[in-house]
Amino acid sequence: MDQFVINGGCPLEGEVTISGAKNAVLPILAATVLGSGQSVINNVPQLHDVKVMKEVLNNLGARVQGDSDQIMVDTSALDCCEIPESLMRKMRATVFLMGPLIARFGKVKISQPGGCSIGSRPIDLHLKGLKALGVEFKQRHGALEGSVDKLVGAEIHLDFPSVGATENIMMAATKAKGETLIYNAAKEPEIIDLQNYLNRLGAKVRGAGTNVIKVKGVEELNAVDYQVIPDRIEAGTFLVAAAITKGNVLIKDIIPEHIEAVAAKLTEAGIEMKVDHNQIEVIGKETWQGINIKTLPYPGLPTDMQAQLMSFLSLAEDTSIITENIFENRLSHADELRRMGAKIRIEGNTAIVNGVDKLYGTIVRATDLRAGAALVLAGLGAEGETVVDNIYHIDRGYEYLEDKLTKLGADIIRKTDLSITDAD
Ligand code: UD1
Repeated sequence: MDQFVINGGCPLEGEVTISGAKNAVLPILAATVLGSGQSVINNVPQLHDVKVMKEVLNNLGARVQGDSDQIMVDTSALDCCEIPESLMRKMRATVFLMGPLIARFGKVKISQPGGCSIGSRPIDLHLKGLKALGVEFKQRHGALEGSVDKLVGAEIHLDFPSVGATENIMMAATKAKGETLIYNAAKEPEIIDLQNYLNRLGAKVRGAGTNVIKVKGVEELNAVDYQVIPDRIEAGTFLVAAAITKGNVLIKDIIPEHIEAVAAKLTEAGIEMKVDHNQIEVIGKETWQGINIKTLPYPGLPTDMQAQLMSFLSLAEDTSIITENIFENRLSHADELRRMGAKIRIEGNTAIVNGVDKLYGTIVRATDLRAGAALVLAGLGAEGETVVDNIYHIDRGYEYLEDKLTKLGADIIRKTDLSITDAD
C-alpha cells in the first residue's frame, strides 16, 4: 500500500487553494439521479470517493464523463435502482442514493452499509425518514429493498441532526406529494449547498442552515450546471498544517464562516489569523497554549477536524481536553500519536492531551481519513522521518495533498507500492 514519507520541521510558507467539498459533491452527484438530463458539476475534487460515486452512477445507467474538476452526468437513460454490494462496500456515501432512487423509480435495492473504524454508523434515521414518506422496507438475504407507489410529504423529527439522513430525506421529499417538514435537521454548509442544487433543478426546498427544512414536492426535476462549495475540512487541515509547522500560509478560495469554529479554537491557542473575503492567512507562533475542544454538529467544532487538532495540541505548552461527541470510536489516532511521543490518555470519549516539546518521526498507520490527515500533520511538525502507512484512507478525501504541501515547502513524498494494483 502507498505510504507518505515526511521529513518534519519545515515551516510551511506560501499560498494554497482549497478544492471543492467532498461532503457536498457526494450528495449532489447522488441528486443528479432525481432529474432526467445532463448536468455539469464544477469544482469537483479528484478523490477516491468521487471516483466510486461516478462508478456507481455509471452502474445505474447514467453517462458520466470528465476526469478534471468538471464532471458531466447524463441521467436520461438511467434504468436501474439497485446498487451492487461490491460498490456499497467501497464507500458508505452510496447510501445517499437511496432517497434519489426512490424518488425517481419508487424503489431501491442496496446492501446494508457496514460500520467502519470510527463507529457502527447505523442508517436508522435515514430509514425512519423515508418510511415516514411512505416507503416500505424489506430485508432479504442481506439486501435492503425499499418501495413506494407515491411518496407523500410528512413531518419528520430526527432524533439526532444526522447530515446524511437530512440529505437523503430532503432529496426524496423533492418529489413527494405535498409538504415535508424535517425537524432537528442538520445545519452543515453542505446541506445548504444541496438545497441550492436541488432548487436549481426545480425543487422547492427552504430552511437549510436552520433546524427546520421545508420541502414542497414537485412532479418533475431538470438537470443543471452547478459549482460545488469549497471544502471546509481541507481548509481547516491547512490551517492546522500552517500552525503546527510554525509557518505562514495564505489559504485561498474558502468561505470563512464555514471554518469559524476551527479558526476560533486556533486563535484561542494563540495562533494569529487574518481573514480577508474568501481567504485566510495563518501566522504560526513558536509556542501555543493547550485548549479544550468538544465536537458538535455545525456550527460547533466539526468531528472531521478533531484528529488534526489533536496532533496540534500534542505540541501545546500545557494540557488540552478533547471530547468527541459525534462518533463513538473516533480517537484511534491517539495510539499512533503516542508512538511519535505524544502524551495522550483516553477516558471514554475524551482525550487528555499533555503537551510535549517535540514529536519524533516513526512509522504510523492511518486508521481512517481524518486520522490519516492528523498523522501527516504530526509528521510535518515532528523531528525526523515519519512514514504514514495506509494512506488510501487519506486519498478518499484530500485532493493532491502531497503536491499542495510540497508547494508550501514541506518535505513529503509518496512511496507507491507497485505490488498492489487498485485493490479497492
Ligand atoms: C457526514 C460526513 C462526515 C462527518 C459526519 C458528521 C459526508 C459524506 N460525511 O457523515 O464526514 O463526519 O457527517 O459531521 O457528508 N447516526 C445514527 N443513525 C443514522 C445516521 C447517523 O445513529 O441513521 C449517528 C452516527 O452513527 C453518528 C452521528 O449520528 O454517531 C452523526 O452521523 P451523521 O451526521 O449521519 O454522519 P454522516 O452523514 O454519516
